[in-house]
Amino acid sequence: MILPIVGYGRSVLRVPTKDIDNTYPELEKLIEDMFETMYRASGVGLAAPQVNLPISVLVIDADPFKENYPEGEGFKRAMINPEVLEIGGEPWAFEEGCLSLPGIHENVTRPANVKVRYYDEKFVQHEEELSGICARVFQHEYDHLQGKVFVDRISNIRKAFLKKKLSDISSNRVRPDYKMMR
Ligand code: NI
Repeated sequence: MILPIVGYGRSVLRVPTKDIDNTYPELEKLIEDMFETMYRASGVGLAAPQVNLPISVLVIDADPFKENYPEGEGFKRAMINPEVLEIGGEPWAFEEGCLSLPGIHENVTRPANVKVRYYDEKFVQHEEELSGICARVFQHEYDHLQGKVFVDRISNIRKAFLKKKLSDISSNRVRPDYKMMR
């Protein structure tokens, strides 16, 4: 089922999420719906606050960036209650976008490497070291769970330049080709 995506300006995007446990109702269905919603909107990641749920769940499928992976393999994950164990490496800039901010693409500088711990959709715990695009997409989605969006990480000058676009999104004046929450 395709879920409507919450746009910039809504408070659910600004609230740190709550961890869940394996009694969370219909978690597998939610994760399936989040993947479907993300694919429909041609995104590479989606966090639960973007579908109006203040819980620590995110999905990633960075397939469109496949040629940039360190090992050239796919990176598809559902992550529940992710934690950052270590973060570091040479910061680098990359142009990011976000399904909650249609039409906005800005360079964001982030550390190169991140070590994470999370549960998968079966509630099996994993630890994983991410780098390159995988670390990039994870950090963007993890920010959503902290109540942050990527334009919080750009300069004030760039943000001032985007003021009109941001206010258009906040007041529902933007119509991307996927369903936004009204
Ligand atoms: Ni995003």
